Amino acid sequence: MKIYKAKDYQDMSRKAANIISAQVITKPDCVLGLATGSTPEGMYAQLVEWYKKGDLDFSEVKSVNLDEYRGMTRDNDQSYYYFMHKHLFDHVNIDPANTHLPNGIAEDPQEECIRYENQIKSMGGVDLQLLGMGHNGHIGFNEPGDEFTKMTNCVDLQESTIEANKRFFASADDVPKQAYTMGIGTIMRAKRVLLMVSGEDKAETLAKALCGPITPKVPASVLQLHNDVVVVADEAALSAMK
Ligand code: F6R
Repeated sequence: MKIYKAKDYQDMSRKAANIISAQVITKPDCVLGLATGSTPEGMYAQLVEWYKKGDLDFSEVKSVNLDEYRGMTRDNDQSYYYFMHKHLFDHVNIDPANTHLPNGIAEDPQEECIRYENQIKSMGGVDLQLLGMGHNGHIGFNEPGDEFTKMTNCVDLQESTIEANKRFFASADDVPKQAYTMGIGTIMRAKRVLLMVSGEDKAETLAKALCGPITPKVPASVLQLHNDVVVVADEAALSAMK
């Protein structure tokens, strides 16, 4: 595992964007695993800026997203489909047909999980998986639990996650209660993982994830077992590392 300490959010965003850019430049038809949330927003803005300058070409890039709320239509401005278009897809030359997210309004959740897992397999797996981390250590929507999930699954969101995400909705009642997420197994099958973390409020959890015991109670701790993980975190997020 390589840990890169960034000065602040902006520095973290640029460092992470550099790593993704290097992936796109060295393998133009790579499969990027993408994440949403406030952590990668600045990184996406940086990628868009470099694309506009002519430094990046997404024409052959394929993408799969980590997760999507269940029951949310694509045109809902809180859907992850909407987020990805707003922050990246609508501003670069990626072919929309090459971008994939779980279908939030699929009729049969079990079938949707299998379809999505097969979609990832059919693309040859993920070359570089981007991750953020929740305050409770979740990655994707894999919440703390008793075992690591193996495949894409449909999960009940924990109260703490609903609390954390309610800032994007009118009230906590409006936050969806379920989501589709790649499983821990799906994430671990990515050839390379890039974890971005920002802010002192995640410092204790990040220290547990990187240096504590590997346990499904801290889902991000599983990354200690992956052989190619890059962590880009700001000083505040790394402040509890002794
Ligand atoms: C988003 C995702 C989540 C977030 C995490 C952190 O696709 O999978 O695991 O990465 O909840 O969210 P932010 O970045 O908003 O703090």
